[in-house]
Amino acid sequence: MQYDRLLINLRLASLVKGEKPYGLTDDTAIAIKDGRIAWIGSTEEAPENADEIDNLDGRLVTPALVDCHTHLIFAGDRSDEYERRLAGESYSSIAQSGGGIRKTVEATRASDAPDLASAAITRLDSFAEEGVGTVEIKSGYGLTHKDELKMLKAARACGLASGMRITTTLLAAHTIPVEYEGRSGDYIDEVCIPLVQEAAREGLADAVDAFCENIAFSADETRRVFEAAKEAGLPVKLHADQLTDSGGAKLVADFEGLSADHIEYTSQAGIDAMAKAGTIGVLLPGAFYAIGETQKPPIAALRKAGVAMAVSTDANPGSSPMLSLLTAANMACALFGLTVEEAFAGITREGAAALGLQDEIGTIEIGKNADLAIWDVTNPAEIIQWIGRRPLHGRILQGEWA
Ligand code: NIG
Ligand code: FE
Repeated sequence: MQYDRLLINLRLASLVKGEKPYGLTDDTAIAIKDGRIAWIGSTEEAPENADEIDNLDGRLVTPALVDCHTHLIFAGDRSDEYERRLAGESYSSIAQSGGGIRKTVEATRASDAPDLASAAITRLDSFAEEGVGTVEIKSGYGLTHKDELKMLKAARACGLASGMRITTTLLAAHTIPVEYEGRSGDYIDEVCIPLVQEAAREGLADAVDAFCENIAFSADETRRVFEAAKEAGLPVKLHADQLTDSGGAKLVADFEGLSADHIEYTSQAGIDAMAKAGTIGVLLPGAFYAIGETQKPPIAALRKAGVAMAVSTDANPGSSPMLSLLTAANMACALFGLTVEEAFAGITREGAAALGLQDEIGTIEIGKNADLAIWDVTNPAEIIQWIGRRPLHGRILQGEWA
């Protein structure tokens, strides 16, 4: 076979689950064909028939990173709330007084799709510089039929412009918009459910999400959105048990959801349901940190139950103003007690699984997409240990230098 590209003399951290930490092997080579990994072995035994050969001089190669939970499409600014929270107000009380998500909704409604996309593409640059290859982007700041579709289209445009793999998630059930105050059920019936159907029909959403919380939607309302998603053939995920135990993790697991995200207040019943369904726990330490949360996600119980954990930025203008997935991984270790290897898996293998892309990306294995990050370090732990250091040499996305 004639390969398109051959990478030689690299230190591979495949992130394949197994005996070796990080799946590390030295003196390794990878051959790429049609954007996919076609051969992995020692440099000594590498095939010679490739159109291009890159000598990586011993550099570390990991899967390109995956951020499985962001709200990168938005307009406006919420720095006033940052100051209010520092002065003692809570995230919930600011939301209930008309600030929070609703403030971003107002600005996002006033912005058009090209402007939203171009602001998000600038934000995505920070992710590219850290070796990220795949980013999930949610809607959820439009909350009308027109504005939610506008956000999803802007997210799709980001995929085309950035060269990254962008997955989109419909989050119409993010908060109750002002015009439906006191009528959340009507909002679900009149806006969220028709949007699920249309987003599925138009191919604009890869998944459906909701915010199940006492300041947002009840478990019953969330269930109705999930039923519509199921009927439309879209997988679900959930902002679950972030501020209180609302039974969210169990609910999303009962729908065999891809992920339960935040999960600070998740009970043992929720954890057991996640383990049974294979639902990934997505840890969002940036939000935990920025809103001054003190209740940590139940890491030991998740580990014991065998629930896989992803780590993500939750990048958004309010609860998690954070454009660094490497910092999120660092925080997941320092604040939640993950091992560095767990955190690395959380921003690669398990992040991919939280998007249902475990057969495509997230580890370096024959048959998967050749989405790679090449680093100027020796050990994967160095990448997470530092804050603000970006030791990236380059990315290869679908077989090409990006
Ligand atoms: O993941 N919890 C709900 N949604 C977002 C917050 C979005 C915002 O504050 O604008 C989150 O934390
Ligand atoms: Fe979020």
